[in-house]
Amino acid sequence: EKYMKGVRHLCDSGLTRVPAKYILPATERPYAQGPPSNPSDLKIKLPVVDLADIHTPNRAHVLASLAEACQEHGFFQVVNHGIPAEVIEKMIDVSRRFFELPFEERSTYMSADIVAPVRYGTSFNQNRDGVFCWRDFLKLSCHPLSRTLPLWPTSPADLRERAVSYSKHIKGLFMELMEAVLETLEVDTGPVMEEFGEGIQMMVVNFYPACPEPDLTLGMPPHSDFGFLTLLLQDGVSGLQIEQKGEWVTADLAAGALVVNVGDHLEIFSNGRYKSLLHRVTVNTAQPRMSVACLLGLAADGVVRPSPQLVDDDNPRRYMDTDFATFLQYVSSRETKGKNFLESRM
Ligand code: SIN
Ligand code: FE2
Repeated sequence: EKYMKGVRHLCDSGLTRVPAKYILPATERPYAQGPPSNPSDLKIKLPVVDLADIHTPNRAHVLASLAEACQEHGFFQVVNHGIPAEVIEKMIDVSRRFFELPFEERSTYMSADIVAPVRYGTSFNQNRDGVFCWRDFLKLSCHPLSRTLPLWPTSPADLRERAVSYSKHIKGLFMELMEAVLETLEVDTGPVMEEFGEGIQMMVVNFYPACPEPDLTLGMPPHSDFGFLTLLLQDGVSGLQIEQKGEWVTADLAAGALVVNVGDHLEIFSNGRYKSLLHRVTVNTAQPRMSVACLLGLAADGVVRPSPQLVDDDNPRRYMDTDFATFLQYVSSRETKGKNFLESRM
């Protein structure tokens, strides 16, 4: 059916209205409560965690700001993260060129199988969504690279090289951040860090075409991310919104800023100290938006549970064990509505 070919394809055929397939029920639309009276009130600057001193005697300061960012905010920006600006720019640029390829080329990677290591798709969960969202994506599994890389697109010709370089830097940054996060939780780092070394890494390149009627639809519905952390890059067009105290606020981000957010598995592992927040993406009439989200966590057969070091008589266990198979079963059996996982709360 024609919507499975994606929003870009649909837009290229010329559109002045949003087709019914993308129109959300009135209560789920981005401005269901009416437009904000003062739009600038609803823009927030994310807290900044500066990693410059992470390997200096000042590490304790970095850890303190990281702990606060995870506990009080859930989403934050990292600066002095060590990923060269050139690597980031090249990733954004090649992503844009991928989505400019003729549809016939992009469609080679289309798959309805949500665990395919390489998948071009549309909406959020295209097998399930009743209303589609205004988003096309390319999902690349980055681990183990020796097995997944041969499946990645060969066009644009520099996509593999650029995406590999970006994903390796992201993995390094994730390991650095996770070690620090575990320290803030005062749990042993050794065994978990070893698991992370062999853990999953998914890179999702999102493309949200400009939309003629942006108040009727969303680029991504409200959801939380599975995994421990998501590292998000975007092109400077705003659209990411985070739910804070029942209100949707727009993250005000510079192009190329690296945003980090707490995923469901970190919420579970921290026994609720750090929470994964609902977020969504709005679209706009003026220009398309692009983002690259990297989700990292334990291996697919790893079991996620509250760290035993964070559970005692005063802090009872708040979550049941869960694993990737359970997650997949869960997401394939329903439309996206809110948090992905946490119905497994005890
Ligand atoms: C995501 O939620 O994974 C992507 C958000 C974005 O496009 O900014
Ligand atoms: Fe997300």
